[in-house]
Amino acid sequence: MKKLWGGRFSKQPEEWVDEFGASISFDQQLASQDLTGSLAHAKMLFECGIIEKEAYENIKQGLLSLKKEEEKGDLQYAVQYEDIHLNLEKLLTDKIGADGGKLHTARSRNDQVATDLHLFVKEETVLIMDHIDELQKALLNLAGEHVETMIPGYTHLQRAQPVSFAHHLLAYFWMLERDKERLQDSLKRTDIMPLGAGALAGTTFPIDRSITMNELGFAKKYLNSLDAVSDRDFAIESCSNASLVMMHLSRFCEELIIWSSEEFGFVEISDSFTTGSSMMPQKKNPDMAELIRGKSGRVYGSLVSLLTLMKGLPLAYNKDMQEDKEPVFDTIKTVKGCLSIMTGMINELKVNEERMNNAVHQDFSNATELADYLAKKGIPFREAHELVGKMVLLCIQKGCYLLDVSLDEYKEWCPIVEEDIFEVLSPKHAVERRNSEGGTGFQAVRQQLEAATSILIAA
Ligand code: ARG
Repeated sequence: MKKLWGGRFSKQPEEWVDEFGASISFDQQLASQDLTGSLAHAKMLFECGIIEKEAYENIKQGLLSLKKEEEKGDLQYAVQYEDIHLNLEKLLTDKIGADGGKLHTARSRNDQVATDLHLFVKEETVLIMDHIDELQKALLNLAGEHVETMIPGYTHLQRAQPVSFAHHLLAYFWMLERDKERLQDSLKRTDIMPLGAGALAGTTFPIDRSITMNELGFAKKYLNSLDAVSDRDFAIESCSNASLVMMHLSRFCEELIIWSSEEFGFVEISDSFTTGSSMMPQKKNPDMAELIRGKSGRVYGSLVSLLTLMKGLPLAYNKDMQEDKEPVFDTIKTVKGCLSIMTGMINELKVNEERMNNAVHQDFSNATELADYLAKKGIPFREAHELVGKMVLLCIQKGCYLLDVSLDEYKEWCPIVEEDIFEVLSPKHAVERRNSEGGTGFQAVRQQLEAATSILIAA
């Protein structure tokens, strides 16, 4: 089969070389962007007097009809035509005849593929942000129901101080908010048009890049043709942003997995997001949460692939760069899928308030309250810390908690202790009062919830 670039060659490439070099199996995902880019390019060629009206009309009709077929999934691609760009050009020429060959005037596949990828990443970035919005909404709903539900707060996975469950959930809201900010910011660098850079050096045709830029809805155009065709920073940034989203989802999933274990029993993940075991009838496995945690690995892998792919490339385009697509496609598909699953999981999460409440009553996470109590009564905090440490040790030896110690025993231990100690030691009291800005106090959490809600509504 004759190649579209076959003029200079006297021998056909080996069949397996065709196969090895082809990207059509995956870059057909860019079909819609490629057709959009071609429509804009053709219009510009006509408006700049580079192709005549008749050829333009012909090309335009051909591209529009290909677009319709593409939407229906009716286009047939061939490995012999390597990639989506050459396949579409071939289909166009088959459809409209020789005028199809005029479309590629003043354009190279190098600026073409870069443009397609910019359009794709731009569209998908917005979709990822929408997915994050949905998850944030789910978190806000759940948090709204659990401002006064208490859960042990941990450091080193050791009980530290009790916190409001809503506070814990809202921590993830803010992580996701930063993720969105990063995605928004990366749009600035994605929303730049490479088209018009040609293969690497621009073109002698009197093109007008502002026409294509406006037509395609780009905010800016690259001002250096070498940079335009060889920049993949925006793709790397997109995978890096996705990696951070996945890292956050993975941490959250890790908590859901721990919390849903028999040992914790704080939450129950809905049946719709769990699976059974083929052997053990009692099992209910948090598979979806585990998979999200696992899939963070492949997204990080894509980021490293892209960074490694680009690190040694001389300017400008190199065929290596064809390898950029699969990691980008896979990352975007994975992160959107994980966000949707996570949203469903949170929407259907069953919270076991009783288990959480029991947990905060059966530990020493109120020890700080006792130390603060002494400090407020004038004992230097360091000394109070030491005293309370001794009391905790005593309780451990006796097999009880701080709330089980009698007033007499407390007075003996430290005479300034009074009746009010028991209220101070109650976990609810401990959480309720931490109303410093950003703290877990009920009041502070309500304010936080309000702030989070208004941010989401404003977006
Ligand atoms: N399929 C190629 C890619 O994805 C398109 C650009 C090819 N350009 C070239 N000069 N071989 O990178």
